[in-house]
Amino acid sequence: MQVANPYRLDGKCVLVTGAAGGIGRACAKALVAQGARVVLADRTPIPGAELATLGDSASSLICDVSDRASIAKLREECPRVDALVLAAGILPFDDWLDPAWDESFDRVMAVNVRGSLNVVREYFQDMCDRGSGSIVFVGSASGRMGGMQAGPHYTASKGAVHSLVRWFAQRAAPKGVCVNGVAPGSIATEMLEGQVFDTARVPMRRMGTAEEVAWPIAFLCSAAASYMSGAVVDINGGLIFS
Ligand SMILES: NC(=O)c1ccc[n+]([C@@H]2O[C@H](COP(=O)([O-])OP(=O)(O)OC[C@H]3O[C@@H](n4cnc5c(N)ncnc54)[C@H](O)[C@@H]3O)[C@@H](O)[C@H]2O)c1
Repeated sequence: MQVANPYRLDGKCVLVTGAAGGIGRACAKALVAQGARVVLADRTPIPGAELATLGDSASSLICDVSDRASIAKLREECPRVDALVLAAGILPFDDWLDPAWDESFDRVMAVNVRGSLNVVREYFQDMCDRGSGSIVFVGSASGRMGGMQAGPHYTASKGAVHSLVRWFAQRAAPKGVCVNGVAPGSIATEMLEGQVFDTARVPMRRMGTAEEVAWPIAFLCSAAASYMSGAVVDINGGLIFS
């Protein structure tokens, strides 16, 4: 199919989870700029003034991705989407040797892994039945390299997210649905507030911005990425892993 500008998203509805956070917010802006209608979902309400900057193309919903009932309600409120961006996530900076840490591990898995799954399983079958759709998981460089500052819970959760990309991609590709992911390095958002990063380890010698993650995600939601499935795209300022 010939498309005038395959990067455009006119007529498409994209659901973004974690949309009150740095990367989610930037995704919403990039997607709207490409013509999409965007539903911003987060457990934290999106400030009205923030939503207003996106114009009539954006609306917001509250949800907890770790709670299946909450995601079933989200689906009722937003029944049909063309693309999903799964940016909700948590990264506690805590001590994995602390006896109370098991709860933290379970919570990280519940949000980062099961939370992404909860959202996908509400929309996946419908996309497959329609024969089109894009799903973008948000993994992490820590899931590739074993983590730097991030603990083993977060690192394992993002490794699992990368595996889910492949699990879903294999099943979705024959149905015309593209499932991909991104693996950002250190990105300056609220998630890393208060942390000190040694940017000397990054070939580009700086942290990334949320926008630098959002644009590749907008691309993965578009027809420009129509032959991509199962990819986890590194966005990390030039880190190379074997
Ligand atoms: N910032 C980085 O350096 C970095 C690097 C690699 C990957 N990531 C990933 O990118 C994604 C976005 O991160 P960010 O940097 O924008 O962080 P952020 O903390 O700014 O945003 C995360 C958002 O997820 C929401 N959220 C958390 N738990 C939720 C739940 N149970 N239900 C619904 N929403 C929930 C939060 O309210 C928040 O708005 C995360 O998955 C994160 O792991 C971030």
